[in-house]
Amino acid sequence: MKPLLLSLYTPSSFLDGFKDSSQFDLGNLTVREFPDQESYIKYDSDVKKRNLVFIVALDKPNTKFLPLIFALKTARELGASNIGLVVPYLPYMRQDKQFLSGEAVTSKYFSKMLADSIDWLITIDPHLHRYHSLNEIYQIPTTVLHANDLIANWIQHHVSSPLIIGPDSESEQWVATIAKTINTPYKILEKTRKSDNIVQIKFPNLNDYQDFTPVLVDDIISTGTTMIEVIKHLKNIKMKAAPICIGVHAIFAHHAYENILAAGAKSVITCNTIEHVSNAIDMSILIKNCLTNIKF
Ligand code: R5P
Repeated sequence: MKPLLLSLYTPSSFLDGFKDSSQFDLGNLTVREFPDQESYIKYDSDVKKRNLVFIVALDKPNTKFLPLIFALKTARELGASNIGLVVPYLPYMRQDKQFLSGEAVTSKYFSKMLADSIDWLITIDPHLHRYHSLNEIYQIPTTVLHANDLIANWIQHHVSSPLIIGPDSESEQWVATIAKTINTPYKILEKTRKSDNIVQIKFPNLNDYQDFTPVLVDDIISTGTTMIEVIKHLKNIKMKAAPICIGVHAIFAHHAYENILAAGAKSVITCNTIEHVSNAIDMSILIKNCLTNIKF
């Protein structure tokens, strides 16, 4: 029997490619709030003895997580054989160590709670900084997909003479790959985060790259502080072209998107792991290809 595809909080634009697929049966699940804001969950499709694939948008996770866990636990109780979760953006990855005494390392607790209710997980570019692999916190099979090739393809088709810039050491993992794919130079900056809204960045000498178009690439754009700090510096050193900012995960807390544009970015482009007006690089194809290769 084909796997049953279910979705929660995922925009229909992301799901369109899956609806036509002969690979899945499409399942229905009702999740709504009671007047007291507790969650009501009901499977409208029979999940007994079925392999389930849930595609779930988990940005702004606090209000989505509890209904999701209820839905997963219900599926188990109704007799689902196997439950897989596809989360294009995997939240709670950034608090990966105790920076100050008394702090919660939420990445560990979140992963444990999620993994307790599923059999496997697929995600795109999770924030792996102090963790080198998801296996360090997820005790279930996980697959990590990368946006690199699709970002490289976008840059190749939209930017002439790109200089790829990564704002901090961990960005080298994707920046170097993208630059190599399209055979263009790259630079990695040194960032120290002082607080949510304050970062200090050390810049290399960019004199030899004045005629290039700076393309800043980061995994997450949250407050926009990182991007804005880099844009300010590029303006100061009078690079000829305004920078293009690319993020995989479009969190854009508060007015981050508008602030980055106001700081002087030529454009802000993101992948559609989180729905946002800046989405220009489609990731659903990556997930569809990955699911095609799974033997259910
Ligand atoms: C952090 O290490 C990440 O890779 C991003 O650089 C960071 O999340 C960006 O955050 P913000 O937009 O708040 O500066």
